Parts: sequence; structure tokens; C-alpha cells
Amino acid sequence: MTSPITRSAWNALASHYETVSKLHLRQLFADDPKRGERMAVEAAGLYLDYSKNRITDETLRLLLQLAQESELRARIDAMFHGEKINVTEKRAVLHVALRAPRGASILVDGKNVVPEVHSVLDKMADFSERVRSGAWKGHTGKRIRNVVNIGIGGSDLGPVMAYEALKHYSERGMVFRFVSNIDGTDFAEAVWDLDPSETLFIVSSKTFTTLETMTNAQTARAWSLAALGGDEKSVAKHFVAVSTNAAEVAKFGIDTANMFEFWDWVGGRYSMDSAIGLSTMLAIGPDNFRAMLDGFHQMDEHFRTAPFEVNLPVLMGLFAVWYNDFFSAQTVAVLPYEQYLKRFPAYLQQLAMESNGKHVTLEGDAVGCDTAPIYWGEPGTNGQHSFYQLIHQGTRLIPCDFIAFAKPLNLLGRHHDMLLANVFAQTEALAFGKTPEQVKAEGTPDWLVPHRVFEGNRPSNTIMAEQLTPETLGKLVALYEHSVFTQGVIWNIDSFDQWGVELGKVLAQRIIPELENDPQPALNHDSSTNNLIRRYRRLKKS
Ligand code: F6P
Repeated sequence: MTSPITRSAWNALASHYETVSKLHLRQLFADDPKRGERMAVEAAGLYLDYSKNRITDETLRLLLQLAQESELRARIDAMFHGEKINVTEKRAVLHVALRAPRGASILVDGKNVVPEVHSVLDKMADFSERVRSGAWKGHTGKRIRNVVNIGIGGSDLGPVMAYEALKHYSERGMVFRFVSNIDGTDFAEAVWDLDPSETLFIVSSKTFTTLETMTNAQTARAWSLAALGGDEKSVAKHFVAVSTNAAEVAKFGIDTANMFEFWDWVGGRYSMDSAIGLSTMLAIGPDNFRAMLDGFHQMDEHFRTAPFEVNLPVLMGLFAVWYNDFFSAQTVAVLPYEQYLKRFPAYLQQLAMESNGKHVTLEGDAVGCDTAPIYWGEPGTNGQHSFYQLIHQGTRLIPCDFIAFAKPLNLLGRHHDMLLANVFAQTEALAFGKTPEQVKAEGTPDWLVPHRVFEGNRPSNTIMAEQLTPETLGKLVALYEHSVFTQGVIWNIDSFDQWGVELGKVLAQRIIPELENDPQPALNHDSSTNNLIRRYRRLKKS
């Protein structure tokens, strides 16, 4: 049995859907006045209200049965025990080891990896203190004021998101920039106002072979050397590396003493709490970074030990499957009502879609159902004035995750009460809508009534925490990591490989010389690609 659709709970859910799809949240709330309190869980300081989902107690029972039939418990244990659950790459998946406390023991191939994790953390902390205090000097003797992280995918999205999320806690006397795109504009704009003698580049790449990152790193090296008199010795003062590949780091000319290591059991999209988080630590300091790791760990422990019916990531993962596969919802909107989380949806896109955008099971058979929904979103209340129209009155079902904090980081007049009023108003409007009778009772002319009706019954989760702190951010990210894991287990797919990005990379390598070499090499693509290449060559010379 490899396809999830052959499980008996799956079939039971399919027929149960026929009943639930006809129920309205208005009725479910009217029938159970305590639903809003009953269907909520609090763990590790995060409160999840899931009452506004299109579920009944029977739905929950069947979803939990599906988790059991999918052997979710055994798969969680396998991950935490360092088993090679990334089967296509034959790797353990141990981002949870990155936040294990000193003294814990997690074995990979019989070796406890926790001491290495802490020794890298200590090295990062020492380096961060030296840079932040000004003890680390650039080539000309000036202190470092600018930090530029060069990376892409997991080596960029996590660091950018965390920097933005925790800006409130960051060292404001320093400038942090992030370069990822191979589009030269990204580099040019990131450094245009920076003084090279005060600028440190962190080249962040697990493999240290990624085209975008290595190209940007070479450009950075040339930019830095040109301003620092061409002295190769300056590289050691202005470049550090975060990688698993010491040989390539040395080849680039970075002193491996200035390399911060991580391991092949850390997936790119699960690496923001590894040395890939060096820019985060430089920004917020080692103590805040450790507080973030502690937040991750608290959520890990909750996920590992809590019964599934009160397990936040498990519940969120099961709801995602419920809408994706039974309601045919194609997307999940993540809507943080916290400006500092503006890059959180972009971060989640890689986490969820690179992990679960798969079409075959672990055994290589067709999965037989839809996998990963599309994650997207924008911070509230901005989205309310653009795409919320579609969520409220469009023809598609878009389950939403609302994220809110009780205490603002910038207390300005009535702003925060107004912000939170919007969170609650949106979830209420989505669930309960406005009936034709209500619209008519407001004196609306008959012809206008259909346009002003909100059918409601649009599901949402509300996640609330006290305040956005480094610790809370760790919990929130771990919540989604484990929700994505839960979904992958239900679909019986490998959530930790990413073969889908390979083909385009290989083809691009083949095309580069066809754009650059003179005379033009023979083109053996399809007629469209050949034609586009010829047109580009013509235009760039004109
Ligand atoms: O896009 C594919 C991918 O391998 C991601 O999984 C990864 O986060 C990114 O490329 C960057 O890889 P690296 O850290 O090796 O440069």
C-alpha cells in the first residue's frame, strides 16, 4: 500500500466529506455554543483556534485515524532518531538536532551530533561578538558596519525572513543586506551605498557550487578587491563562508578557519537555525539567537511528545490535507498581522512547496492524490485591500492562517487594537458571512443584494502568541516545519529531496555558452528556444 488514497481512513473521509461539505459554520457554531473554546489548543505559548474550520468531531476523529494509519508516530520517531528518512538522497533529516540543548544526544550513523552543533554555535557566537564589538577589523583597520549575506533558496529565505522578523532586536548601528538573484541588479543595489572597507560578505551555500551564489560571490570578491588595492589577503578579513563543503570554500580563497560548518543532514530549507543563520546572529546577537533556538526546541518537544489530538503541527498538517484533498482547495493563505513577518509567507513557500511538491510516493509509485497546496500571503491589513475580495466572495475556497500577537513591538496610539480588530473581523466575516436577508434588512435594493452577499463558510486558523520575540519566531517556524512534515507523511512522499529543481539548472548550464560564445554555437533546442536565443543575441548587440 503506497498511495494514501488506499487507506481506509482516506475512504471514510471521502464519504464523510459529502456530509461536511453541506454544513455551514453558522450552523456548527449555533449547534455548539462552546465550539470556539473547545476547538482550540495552546502549546509552548502558541494558541491555535481551529474552530472556524469546516470540520466536526467526526472529521477530527477520521483525520487522526488517517495519521495513525499513515504511521505518523513512527515517522516522527524515525526523524528524531536520525534515521535516513530522506530516502532518495539516503540522508538523515535532523534540523531538530540544530536546536537540541547542550548535553542532548542524537545519533547519526552511531555518532552523537549535538556536541558538533554546539561547537559551531560557540564559534558563531565568538565571531559575532567580535564583529558586533568592533574587535574584528577589516583590511584597512576599520570596523565592520555592513554585512551582506550571499545565498539563495534556503541559504537566503530563512536569513532574510529572520532578519526582517527580528529587526526590532537587531543592532541598528549595522547594515544588513541579502543578495540572492543572479540578476546583477540584486548585487548592484545591495552594495551601491556601502563602503567596501567596512563590508563583510557571508557566502552561504550548503554545496558551495550553486550557480547564483558562486557568481555573486565572485562579483563580491572583485568589488571588494578593487576597492582594497587588489590585496588578496583582504579576502580573509571581508569574506566568511557557511557551508558543508570545505574543499570548495578553500578553492574560493576563504580561510577555512573562517568557515562555519553544517552537515548534509540539514536540508537547505530547514537551515535557518544552523550556521546559515550567521547573519541573524550578527544582527540580533548570540543570546537572542539562542533564545530563538530554544523556541524551536520547545515546539519540537511538543510535536514529538503531545498526543495528536492536541498537537499543533499535527492538527495544522491534517487540516491542510483535508482542504487540499477533499475540498480540492489549491492554496493556503498565510496572513501575518505583524509587519515584521512580511517575509514569512515567502519563506513558507520554499518550506512547504519544495518539501511537498512531489508526484510519487516514497516507493516511487504515483501518489494518486494532490500534494502540496500553494502557500502564499501578505501581511495584514495590506492584503485586505487587494486579494481578500477573492477570499471573501470569489469562487475558490482558500483556507487561511491568521497570525497575530497580543503585544505590539511598537506601541503607537490605537494602532494595535485596530490591527487586532481587523484579524478578528476577518475571521468572523469569512466564517459567517452575510446572508441575503441581512443585506436586504439594511435597505439594499434587490438588484444589488447578490453582489453584497457573503456566503461565509470560508475556513481559517487563528494563531496567537503574546509577542513576536526570537523565541516565538522559533516556535512559529518549527510549527510550520512539522506541519509540512505531517502532510508529507500522510501523502507518503519524500519531503526532503528537491529533484524538481535539477532539470532547469542543467539546461541553463548548456545554454550559457550559446549566449556568450562567438561565433554562435549550433543550436539544437526546439524551434521556440532556438528562436529566443537568436533574438536575445541579436538584441544584446544592437
Ligand atoms: O533550489 C534548490 C536548492 O538546493 C535549495 O534546496 C537550497 O536551499 C538552495 O538550492 C541553495 O543551495 P546551496 O545552499 O547549496 O547553495
